[in-house]
Amino acid sequence: MNLDLFRAYWVLAMRLKSLRNVAALALVLLLAACGDNGESSLGGAIDFEPNRPTLGKETAAAPAYSGNNPLVQEAAERFRTGSDLHRKVIIRTCGPNGGVCHNQKEYPDLRTPGSFLATINAPCNVQPGDFSSVDDRCELLGDRFKFDNQGFKEIEIGHLQYIAGEHEDYKDGNKPDASSPGLHVHLREAVPLDREQLHAGGQFIRTFVNDQQIVEDLTFATFGSRWWILEGGKHLVAEVRSYQVDRINELLAVGIIQGDVNRNSVFGARASKPVPLIKPGKPEESYLVGRLRGLMGGEEVPGSRMPLANQPLTIPEMLALFCFIEGLPANGSHPSMSDAIDYKSCSYTADPESLNLLGAGVTWKGRVSKIFQANCSGCHGGSEPPEGLDLRNDEAYGQLFELSKQKPELRLIEAGEPEASYLWLKLIGDESITGYPMPYNPLTGEGKLREGELGDVQTWIVNGAILDE
Ligand code: HEC
Repeated sequence: MNLDLFRAYWVLAMRLKSLRNVAALALVLLLAACGDNGESSLGGAIDFEPNRPTLGKETAAAPAYSGNNPLVQEAAERFRTGSDLHRKVIIRTCGPNGGVCHNQKEYPDLRTPGSFLATINAPCNVQPGDFSSVDDRCELLGDRFKFDNQGFKEIEIGHLQYIAGEHEDYKDGNKPDASSPGLHVHLREAVPLDREQLHAGGQFIRTFVNDQQIVEDLTFATFGSRWWILEGGKHLVAEVRSYQVDRINELLAVGIIQGDVNRNSVFGARASKPVPLIKPGKPEESYLVGRLRGLMGGEEVPGSRMPLANQPLTIPEMLALFCFIEGLPANGSHPSMSDAIDYKSCSYTADPESLNLLGAGVTWKGRVSKIFQANCSGCHGGSEPPEGLDLRNDEAYGQLFELSKQKPELRLIEAGEPEASYLWLKLIGDESITGYPMPYNPLTGEGKLREGELGDVQTWIVNGAILDE
């Protein structure tokens, strides 16, 4: 690794205000090292030991929930502490193979309780991969750029793109374009230079608050080359000769902050406040929650909804997450994961239904068929399923709109109308049913799905009992 750069990083790190910032910066550096949008393979990774919070041992008691909402009771019973939440909800949602989707390469790292805690107040969506899925609300104030010995003021960096490839000698009025090899720097405003090219050092600048609370601007990297000025000055291209490739990789590995990561010309940090992954006290302003819901502050969150390959969170699971976040200390200090989640003072227990993720997007394939496979297929399968109703797999969907054998004036499912859907009446053990409530329990003669699952089936019927999105 280039010594100058290494020193720059340490100067940078040392001047940062708090340890947390160092950890965050280290993270950014690590991510940058993991790949800049897959466009270049970067060398020059900086080794670091992630600064993970330690996990407290003592269990702080929380007053028990005393209300009688069954959804809250279920949450309080199954997800007593932050560790329960992490183990039973976060890990579950992290890929079918136990956490393959989120590891240290794929931000955020959610594998351990400690790494989960580290998402508190951490920047959101700092992920390598598809830049277009980055939410404007996750964009930070970008670093700034200027040329050595040029009088203009520094300009915020929108995005950077290194296009690897053989350097070209531009002659006879030829010049690089958007796809030419080189380091492309896209700026928020045009550089006020009335020329097409210059030989200069390009400076990358960031503002820090030092130990004495003094704000300082620091040039943390420079790159000297021939620079081309395109698009009226908003797009600069530095030529990169083969001997400079390492230098560029090191430069990118420093983790230059781009103000318009998703390249949509909106500089998120200026347009609105950046959103952290988890904001203590404010689940609805936490990006992690936004990604689960596909919505935040009434606006769509770009990128696929999480969890990708799994069932969405049930209401009790959501409630546990919301109450956990709401109960986090506002000063940003890390709680112990073994502290009890305080359901009693959690405002979301007043209306847990409102946390139902499935208001939109609950489908047979996405959710309901899985509930039935898990709870019904043991009996409703094989060569002679009860009442001819086979609920083993996705194909069962076709049968659901047939008339009930037990009560032929009703269909099993009447889209939009749970009360007119015989299957639903069986699930809630309505007085009008023939036989037993479902899922039948031969020992007790009773049986009931969990509240969250029932809520999901109900929402699904109300929303039209759709197959797929
Ligand atoms: C332990 C075995 C068992 C399980 C588990 C079970 N069922 Fe049943 N199911 C039966 C039997 C037996 C009948 C017929 C007798 C009755 O209604 O009690 C039946 C009948 C039904 C009927 C009536 C069909 C009609 O055409 O009228 C529906 C609907 C139904 N089950 C849905 C479900 C659903 C949905 C689940 C899972 C949530 C489920 N069952 C789980 C055994 C089971």
